[in-house]
Amino acid sequence: MNETATLTLDDKVYPLRVIVGTENEKAVDIRNLRNDTGYVTYDEGFGNTGSCQSTVTYIDGEAGILRYRGYPIEQLAEYSSFIETAYLIINGELPLPAQRKRFSQLLTENSPIHSGMEHLFEGFPSDAHPMAILSAMLNSLGSYYPHLATNDHQRDLETYEATSAVIISKVRTIAAYSYRASRGLPYIHPRRDLPYCENFLHMMFSTPYEPYIALPEVAQALNLFLLLHADHEQNCSTSTVRMVASSGANLFASAAAGVCALWGPLHGGANTAVIEMLKSIHAEGDDGTKFIEQAKLGKADKRLMGFGHRVYKHYDPRAKIIKESFYSALASLGIKDDPLLNIAMRLEEAALRDEYFLARKLYPNVDFYSGLIMRAIGIPENMFTVMFAIGRMPGWIANWKEVAANPKGRIYRPRQIYVGANLRDYVPPHQRK
Ligand code: CMC
Repeated sequence: MNETATLTLDDKVYPLRVIVGTENEKAVDIRNLRNDTGYVTYDEGFGNTGSCQSTVTYIDGEAGILRYRGYPIEQLAEYSSFIETAYLIINGELPLPAQRKRFSQLLTENSPIHSGMEHLFEGFPSDAHPMAILSAMLNSLGSYYPHLATNDHQRDLETYEATSAVIISKVRTIAAYSYRASRGLPYIHPRRDLPYCENFLHMMFSTPYEPYIALPEVAQALNLFLLLHADHEQNCSTSTVRMVASSGANLFASAAAGVCALWGPLHGGANTAVIEMLKSIHAEGDDGTKFIEQAKLGKADKRLMGFGHRVYKHYDPRAKIIKESFYSALASLGIKDDPLLNIAMRLEEAALRDEYFLARKLYPNVDFYSGLIMRAIGIPENMFTVMFAIGRMPGWIANWKEVAANPKGRIYRPRQIYVGANLRDYVPPHQRK
């Protein structure tokens, strides 16, 4: 297609190239706009801005479609595993058996952390949030691998396979250690014989005198949770990772920045916020009706957490999958009646019938049910967002690579519309009023 858009400014007409993606998404190319016209665009929150061209994930928010590297999330959820999907996202293709084996070997070899790093955990206060620890530790991890974190993209790309394996494997060990540190518990070392999720649960819950053996249903629920979070195109944390990467920064530093962006309650922190919301509704003896009425007042602090999405204007496909698998997980765990689940169901039903939510196309997102799943499988609440970060790592890695490998890449540096004071003279301290 050879379409052109035209823009008229100050009586001049400017042709603008139209870019079409492989799924027919269209964008007006404004890369020369400021040079040609002197104008910039204004798009607070970037809701209308395509910040990059990417081959990793496709979302059609109106139709509720999510695909990693072209594969529908529903098929991956049914047939794949987190590790195979991570390989797909990181490398672009599903692995051949030998590639899958090598990836597993790399993950196993990389699961322990340097003993020097264990001491770093001791420097944090005992009630430090595991997200703060995770971010600091991921950045520190780079300093244990200076040859993988050179801040020279060409060199860092040559070691991409090793770096990805180090991060995917060690993020799980660091996450488990941050939990153990926050409880004053001794660290449990990874085991070579356990698969990814089982190994994580072992490091979280085994004791020096009694191994924790994960129920297959628990490991499966965790596997699905991680897979569903593995990437989600240009969300806040992934854009942050790309932003940091665009300065030339290494993968460890870029991923650490992603953790910080993910922490907030409007993003990954929503899974914790949902449980807090459900608990407070329960504690007040509300069945959700009062809360829904407050959420409709539009106050930022009373939002229905786990509802709404910048991109999905339809049921989030991840929420659908997680909700369906949730009931089988509960049944196999022998959990029959969870009051928070009952409130969540009522909230969902009521919101899906309410004109306020319908008019704004606010549907449950993945976080509405993911906190409940985490809770059911015994993950402590302050670890929910850490779990999201473990899951999102493949997406951050793949997006970092796209930035690092782009020969035409430029540092991310948006413009602004300055609305502050006009030129004025400095006032000495004694003359200030
Ligand atoms: N409860 C009540 N009203 C809402 C909600 C909500 N959860 N979300 C949006 N609205 C209203 C909002 O007040 C606004 O109303 P009006 O047009 O009258 O001003 C309208 O819907 C549009 O909202 P917005 O804030 O412009 O939407 P956004 O695209 O900037 O924000 C969001 C998206 C996800 C941050 C927001 O929907 C939200 O705060 N949801 C709750 C937090 C949450 O669940 N976050 C997890 C997102 S999914 C996981 C992830 O990718 O991180």
